[in-house]
Amino acid sequence: MAAEWYHDAVFYELYIRAYQDSNGDGQGDFRGAIQRLDHIKSLGVDCIWVMPHYASPLLDDGYDIADYTAVHPDYGTLNDFKAFLDAAHARGLKVITDLVMNHTSDQHPWFQAARKDPQSPYRNYYVWSDTGTEYADARIIFLDIESSNWTYDPVAGQYFWHRFFSSQPDLNYDNPKVHEEMFNIIRFWLDMGIDGFRVDAIPYLYEREGTNCENLPETHEFLKGMRRMVEEEYPGTLLVAEANQWPEDLLPYFGTRAEPEFPMCFHFPIMPRLYQSLKAQDKRPIVDIWARTPDLAHAPDIPPGAQWMTFLRNHDELTLEMVTPDVRQWMWEQYAPEPQMRLNLGIRRRLAPLLDRDKQKWFLLNAMFLSLPGTPIVYYGDEIGMGDNIWLPDRHGCRTPMQWDDSRNSGFSTAQETYFPVHQEYGEINVAVQEKDPKSFLNLMRFLLKTRQGQLALRRGDFEFVETGLDADSTTAVLAYRRFINPRSVNEHQSVLCLFNLSDRAQKVTMGKDEGTRSWIDLLHPHTKPWHSLNADLGPRAAHWLVEITTH
Ligand code: NOJ
Repeated sequence: MAAEWYHDAVFYELYIRAYQDSNGDGQGDFRGAIQRLDHIKSLGVDCIWVMPHYASPLLDDGYDIADYTAVHPDYGTLNDFKAFLDAAHARGLKVITDLVMNHTSDQHPWFQAARKDPQSPYRNYYVWSDTGTEYADARIIFLDIESSNWTYDPVAGQYFWHRFFSSQPDLNYDNPKVHEEMFNIIRFWLDMGIDGFRVDAIPYLYEREGTNCENLPETHEFLKGMRRMVEEEYPGTLLVAEANQWPEDLLPYFGTRAEPEFPMCFHFPIMPRLYQSLKAQDKRPIVDIWARTPDLAHAPDIPPGAQWMTFLRNHDELTLEMVTPDVRQWMWEQYAPEPQMRLNLGIRRRLAPLLDRDKQKWFLLNAMFLSLPGTPIVYYGDEIGMGDNIWLPDRHGCRTPMQWDDSRNSGFSTAQETYFPVHQEYGEINVAVQEKDPKSFLNLMRFLLKTRQGQLALRRGDFEFVETGLDADSTTAVLAYRRFINPRSVNEHQSVLCLFNLSDRAQKVTMGKDEGTRSWIDLLHPHTKPWHSLNADLGPRAAHWLVEITTH
């Protein structure tokens, strides 16, 4: 199997504005983040994804870029970015940044020139219409705020196309000049030494009448060309695709052996189903979506090295785009009972509050997340079970300052006022307090990541579901699968049997057959006695990663 470094890595999503303020202006910055790299390293993380750090009016928190080659002044300078990159590399941490290719800010000089002058070469950098009626089959993504994908610009005297906020005009990928500009932006950051990009909103690059304007063949053509350029000029660069799509529509984003696109794609559909299964105490949502998920290691004509990226939360709402309307309604009722907890087609809450701060549920969910195939990414703050502030607008409630200690502003900043208020819980929920408690979220997260990383089979292994026996209840309430290195090896560390009781009642599993003197240790509970049989009672919401031991 073609194992690349990112198959063995744990990622961390870092929001610079939230992490550490070094100059007392109430905004996190790169100099501050440097001081906190040791925390990231201590978690067992290998690669950091830095959310947009470019010059921007911040109407979509930096996903509205006004200058692709400048650092946002609140975050520092290019030199500060470089210092951050060097400091991360010195600790063995890789860094990828966000590449927002689909759109710019309306403050970008290209758009400003385009709207003012129909003859400007920049006019054709964007998508215009006299009527704003084209591409009516394209859905509206930010549907709580936008009512159309077209907005009339009085200066231009035309409508412009935008898939996100009306302050984010879409670039026109039918114009080869746009490709050239984007390639040069990619070169600029790779020349600086970053390790790759998380590429934003890629399904929407092209528009074609009569389609939903997602995943179009033209988009794939462009992405193949982009990968070709990157491989030729910067071999080994990691590109991660952000495409919120069904597994079968995601697959083409890996490309083919002859023409690869992305080495890694976020697996959006599995994420809500982990929460759904947990709440419904029923494994079937997870089982069903994996049945629909191509096995990358064995799928025909998938480029070697293809890998999923998995996550429980990120900086956006917990998206329910990839579930049916019925399930979405159910998920809202279960996880977002208050209207302020909902946004667009999702839930604007953080991990710990979603789970009622219940450590057992948190452990169970993370144990599933970290043993399923894919490279995991942890969202900043979730390692300490940080809360959300649902009274802040849009998705900001999940982007409040990191809680380091119980001093003023949680040790994040010495300013009078921070960009958003620190969550009021910070006195109890912070890194310093949790450092001292071996059973804290923080130390449990370290333990889980370390344990996962210690098992080759959990990082790179194949995957198969395992039947749990004939007990009616446990066949749906207990999720069981095996991760193993192929060809099956007798080596004790090559196979991990993962068992999760999703139910809040004990469940009996009857998986044992001809067990003889075999025994297993539970990696998740290393101080408990070995198991001598797989016919066992599982405690409520219990999680086990079992590895067979050889006894003589
Ligand atoms: C996806 C990003 O995750 C989100 O935060 C952003 O608003 C949109 N893309 C538009 O760039």
